[in-house]
Amino acid sequence: MSERIGIYPGSFDPIHLGHVDLIERSRGLFDHIYVAVTTNEEKKPLFSVDERVEMIEELLVDYPDCEVRSFSGLLVDFAKKVGGSTIVKGLRAVSDFEFEFQMALMNRRLNPDVETVFMMPKDDRTYVSSRLIKEVYKLGGDIEDLLPPSVHKRLVERQLGEQ
Ligand code: PNS
Repeated sequence: MSERIGIYPGSFDPIHLGHVDLIERSRGLFDHIYVAVTTNEEKKPLFSVDERVEMIEELLVDYPDCEVRSFSGLLVDFAKKVGGSTIVKGLRAVSDFEFEFQMALMNRRLNPDVETVFMMPKDDRTYVSSRLIKEVYKLGGDIEDLLPPSVHKRLVERQLGEQ
């Protein structure tokens, strides 16, 4: 039987516990998961692509079925390149739905062989986003319990370096 390969794409700037929850849930569905980090600089990321890949690799060190890759260009082309036929996306709230729906249909148009599946994170993670974490942290709010400790450490170091 052929291997079930899933692609979990995102900016991961930085990866948070909602993302980790999604990766853990996806492991039950696929033999191999590529966590695909976009190199798109349009969003002016806080962490470089290499840093984001490194942070995720550190977290997944004990998960031999998970591999972290950066990609540029179309997601469906990346999926094809690595032999993946399923894109995994997280749906946190209804507000995510509209854009995710558009992207899923556009990706299907670009490559009908690639399917998108949506998964819901653990209910206490539904409000978590990298953007909010960065904003709240910058303004002095406590976000430590929303990040893996190694990622929180990097965020502290990065923000201290910028002061
Ligand atoms: O974590 P994000 O920023 O919501 O992730 C968005 C991402 C990387 C999944 C999306 O921007 C993407 O797929 N980028 C790759 C370029 C692409 O294929 N664009 C067309 C999508 S329909």
